[in-house]
Amino acid sequence: MAIAIVFAEYGDPEVLHPIDIDPPTPAAGQVRVRVKAAGVNPVDAKLRRGDFAAVMPADFPSRIGNEYAGIIDQIGDEVTGFAAGDQVLGSATGQCYAEYVVADASDVVRKPATMPWTVAAGLPAVGQTAHTALRQIAVRAGDTVLIHAAAGGVGTIAIQLAHLSGATVIGTASERNHDYLRSLGATPVVYGEGLIERVHALAPAGVDAALDAIGGEGITASLALVPDRHRIGTLVDAEAPKTYGIQRVGGRSTAALRELVTLYEHGSLQLPIHATFPLTEAHHAHREVQTGHVRGKVVLTMP
Ligand SMILES: NC(=O)c1ccc[n+]([C@@H]2O[C@H](COP(=O)([O-])OP(=O)(O)OC[C@H]3O[C@@H](n4cnc5c(N)ncnc54)[C@H](OP(=O)(O)O)[C@@H]3O)[C@@H](O)[C@H]2O)c1
Repeated sequence: MAIAIVFAEYGDPEVLHPIDIDPPTPAAGQVRVRVKAAGVNPVDAKLRRGDFAAVMPADFPSRIGNEYAGIIDQIGDEVTGFAAGDQVLGSATGQCYAEYVVADASDVVRKPATMPWTVAAGLPAVGQTAHTALRQIAVRAGDTVLIHAAAGGVGTIAIQLAHLSGATVIGTASERNHDYLRSLGATPVVYGEGLIERVHALAPAGVDAALDAIGGEGITASLALVPDRHRIGTLVDAEAPKTYGIQRVGGRSTAALRELVTLYEHGSLQLPIHATFPLTEAHHAHREVQTGHVRGKVVLTMP
């Protein structure tokens, strides 16, 4: 048997609880991974709370968790290029708070020996999201880019990728995260009233693109500062793209994840781990994420 975390009703973090499951069997084209760590994302808390119940009702008891790092222990038919014992990471929707996951081999990425399990587990969702989002808003050398909620998981990766691409990066965060943003390559700015004026003072020639990971002010400030609406991307507001003609951005790409892992291996990317919790304390991890003030990532570790 193996442990998996589920919720059997919507509610507070305490609805998360462990159950025993039969370890899954990989189908053709899949591998089974013995999980060493699993990343926790705001979307997990939103799902558990029932925020998507109207459009995507949960099938209770519902598994949870979209990213993992671990060791392959079974290989399905027709899988080439991987073997039992390989250390890997990747995305696998709605199953990763567990001791085992199955994943399509085509979505699995090798973990470098130098990458800790916690970093490997925390990278797939925020990494792929940041990477695809910056592509969608066409960030390139010479741009000035505004990143909202820049100290969070997505922002942490987005700052570094935008900086590496040769852009000048301005990131919003509370004061206590300003040295952190500087260390990643961004000029920090406090969010809240007066944000537009503060960014304008930092970038008198204008802002070319913006990535919103907070909504509200993230949208209004971006609209005021970025002339080309197609170069404003939101990760959180489903309505703003229809209302203002900005882009709904994000998405997965295994090629992007491979690129991010290579950057990490070469010392060009970092992902600080804000906190770790044992798998069976997933509710504590959700409480931490729900503060809205995580720096980097929260990760679950296996017994
Ligand atoms: N994680 C993903 O892969 C993913 C994918 C698609 C969409 N999204 C969505 O994108 C959003 C961000 O995700 P995330 O994983 O980066 O979240 P996160 O790590 O939980 O973000 C936390 C950060 O938000 C900052 N913050 C809090 N209030 C703020 C405000 N009013 N203005 C600006 N920054 C503020 C905090 O900075 P301070 O502590 O300095 O306040 C903190 O560092 C979430 O709504 C998430 O659902 C995430």
